[in-house]
Amino acid sequence: MDFSQENPLPCILAAAVAGCAERHMETEMTLLAAATAVRERAYAPYSRFKVGAAIRSTSGVVHVGCNVENVAYPEGTCAEAGAIAAMIAAGDARIAEVCVIADSPDPVPPCGGCRQKIAEFADQDVRVVLCTTDGAQKVMTVAELLPGVFTAAHMDRT
Ligand code: THU
Repeated sequence: MDFSQENPLPCILAAAVAGCAERHMETEMTLLAAATAVRERAYAPYSRFKVGAAIRSTSGVVHVGCNVENVAYPEGTCAEAGAIAAMIAAGDARIAEVCVIADSPDPVPPCGGCRQKIAEFADQDVRVVLCTTDGAQKVMTVAELLPGVFTAAHMDRT
């Protein structure tokens, strides 16, 4: 697979869908490659902090998202939210693995809101791979990212 071509994203995603997902290492490489590629498309003129996110759904398809900022700052959206929206729009329902990447000193953690958004569609043991563009990685589970998560079960009396 040639990731060096000018627009590698379609190639990366095609490879992901085509079956690289069968092997764990390859899956992780593919998710990282997809998150790295989509990060380049981030619209972040205000923070200048570009973030890319890639989700492998339980059906094996890779969905990507990047942060999209707005001059009305609170209207911006995170990379993880974009990837989740793409997953749902594509007809997938559940997250098998997440990869997030940014040019940060330490592996970039999803913000609080994105932790809750990920938890909506992922089991507690799902891996979230936090990455820097320098190559550092930290792997956490959804449970570790959001202990005490609010779930539908908390509304059982309504
Ligand atoms: N950002 C994300 O896209 N994901 C995160 O989990 C952390 C923050 C974006 C939002 C905003 O566009 C920029 O990074 C700075 O906060």
